[in-house]
Amino acid sequence: MSYKSEYSAQDVTPKHLFLNRRQLMAGAAGLLAAPAFAGTSPYSTDEAPNSYEDITTYNNYYEFGYDKTDPAQYAEALTIDPWSVKVDGLVDKPGTYSLADLIADMPIEERIYRFRCVEAWSMIVPWQGFQLSALLQKLGVQAGAKYVVFETVVRPAEMRGQTGGMIQWPYREGLRLDEAMNPLAFMATGLYGKPLPKQSGAPIRLVVPWKYGFKSAKALVRISLVAEEPQTTWKMLAPNEYGFYANVNPQVDHPRWSQATERRVGGGLFAGRIDTQMFNGYGDQVASLYTGQDLTKDF
Ligand code: MTE
Repeated sequence: MSYKSEYSAQDVTPKHLFLNRRQLMAGAAGLLAAPAFAGTSPYSTDEAPNSYEDITTYNNYYEFGYDKTDPAQYAEALTIDPWSVKVDGLVDKPGTYSLADLIADMPIEERIYRFRCVEAWSMIVPWQGFQLSALLQKLGVQAGAKYVVFETVVRPAEMRGQTGGMIQWPYREGLRLDEAMNPLAFMATGLYGKPLPKQSGAPIRLVVPWKYGFKSAKALVRISLVAEEPQTTWKMLAPNEYGFYANVNPQVDHPRWSQATERRVGGGLFAGRIDTQMFNGYGDQVASLYTGQDLTKDF
């Protein structure tokens, strides 16, 4: 992961325009076989979301290349229909599910979350999707399961970045079970009331707003319940730089840069950096998960 700050200036969408846009899109979203949104969630921030353009043209998705603009340029090549997700490990209902079956009875809602990348940029993103906990409850987590593992699709013919590079595919991520059951842990299938764009992780991705963005794995094809802490992509690549927990923490710097502040994408050329918040501002909901842990060691 590199640290770049070459993003061009663009203003954050003003709130009133955003609201109009949301009203317009509520209709469009209904056509996606997604149930009507349950309204604004208490878990949503009231900060103004970044524009659709910001969110879909400045991405990290190494399956398509290393530049921020590569995903928007090349992700169209990925076939996302049909799509299936394998569920295995310590679970009552293992199997290979079509995406439609997997999410059929999930209550779709909107969550407007802060999103903080380990590279020290951030955005505000209006996702649609459902709580990971609802899916895990449906699948039936067995006693003995302590972690949830997520794997991304491997399809080098469609993902030009998978033909080389240093990452051992698939992209892997994981959460401790209690983290996965926290109401903030989210599975996104939509963005701005439209189906999730391919560069954003279509057709289904994880979103864990109190952790650095690399935990939020895209294009999931496998979910496993396991007993041991799993190997995860960035920790495998550089264990001294990227930990398993990856909680947003302004007090623990990356070995090569400070995590004390962040640049809000779209904030404009002259916008100053903003202070990074512990757990990305979600401490009230998640701090208790880490009671007794030394977060400088479990970084
Ligand atoms: N998921 C996959 N499959 N491949 C990736 O390279 N990059 C991660 C994460 N999920 C990545 C991924 C990183 S480093 C970040 S910051 C976020 O996706 C970026 O999400 P965004 O492009 O939607 O902002």
